[in-house]
Amino acid sequence: MSAQPAVLEVDDVVKVYRGGMRANDGISLEVAAGEVFGMLGHNGAGKTTLLNQVVGIARPTSGRIHIEGHDAVADPEMARQVCSMQPQAQAPLEGVAPAEAIELMARIRGASRARARRRTAELVEGLDIGAWATTKGERLSGGVQRLTAFAMAVAEPGRLVMLDEPTNDVDPVRRRLLWAQVRELAQAGCAVVLVTHNVLEAERAVDRLVILDEGRVIAHGSPAQLRGEHAGQLRVEAETVSPEVARDVARGAVGGRPATVAGRRVIVSIPVEDSAGALAWAAREQQEGRIESFSFAPVSLEDIYVRLVGPDPDTEEVDDAPVEP
Ligand SMILES: Nc1ncnc2c1ncn2[C@@H]1O[C@H](COP(=O)(O)OP(=O)(O)OP(=O)(O)O)[C@@H](O)[C@H]1O
Ligand SMILES: [Mg+2]
Repeated sequence: MSAQPAVLEVDDVVKVYRGGMRANDGISLEVAAGEVFGMLGHNGAGKTTLLNQVVGIARPTSGRIHIEGHDAVADPEMARQVCSMQPQAQAPLEGVAPAEAIELMARIRGASRARARRRTAELVEGLDIGAWATTKGERLSGGVQRLTAFAMAVAEPGRLVMLDEPTNDVDPVRRRLLWAQVRELAQAGCAVVLVTHNVLEAERAVDRLVILDEGRVIAHGSPAQLRGEHAGQLRVEAETVSPEVARDVARGAVGGRPATVAGRRVIVSIPVEDSAGALAWAAREQQEGRIESFSFAPVSLEDIYVRLVGPDPDTEEVDDAPVEP
């Protein structure tokens, strides 16, 4: 991938909003043609702010943004030509049906009538929204509106495609269809920037990613690189009978390893070679009626994400140390 020249280069971008909010605090990254580049991070991490600066909706306080080697800050018109964006905020679709909206968008972006029709048919079929193709926007469900907004953004894609949470509100089956469309865009040579909160799906959908936290890049690489030293580890997840039992189980988990508790769930990472011992431990706990079910899986990008940016508010780390009730 590094053999490809960068389509998007972001260099030390800082964005301080009026009022002093430092939404981007020195972000640098590069996205090449043909790759899907993920951008992950908690609410307010600065993801949308960065995309807005690429297309000139917001202006960096300092730093540089180049698209295909041209200064995007000095020439936002060029940026909007090269870049297709699906914004996070829902596009209003009053009085317009998905098929019309998609075809119109393709035409606006310069597709011939025949190509606009063909792309519309491809996307309507590819995303399985044919049942609503001629339903007026105000009568569409949230998920179908989101899928339509995605299709509008990629109907006649620029060489840089930026998608801000395209799968929000979309059902699991159509999410997969959307990821397949994203992969096709990259295969057709687009550089794709994908903002998502769905870390598990991102793991399969992206080639490389950054994790942003408070406006900074705190991790950068392929999913395999980010799993790094944890790649040879297994995640043991046990569903216990109650939160109280979960804390107790966590204290002695797999010979006293550090565990995370989330409600009734207990999560422990173990090296693969310890799996026989862990299995014996889990089976014993299940026989004693403390664990209802358990699973073993490779450590995922989501595990790494939680380790880096901190767990959900309702999870807690448990060592062998006793836990306050
Ligand atoms: N126009 C604005 N003026 C002032 N502050 C803003 C503005 N837009 C965003 N912010 C603030 O900047 C920070 C980053 O916001 P941003 O929308 O970039 O986050 P995000 O990573 O996209 O979050 P989410 O995942 O919730 O969409 C937040 O603290 C937000 O409140
Ligand atoms: Mg956002």
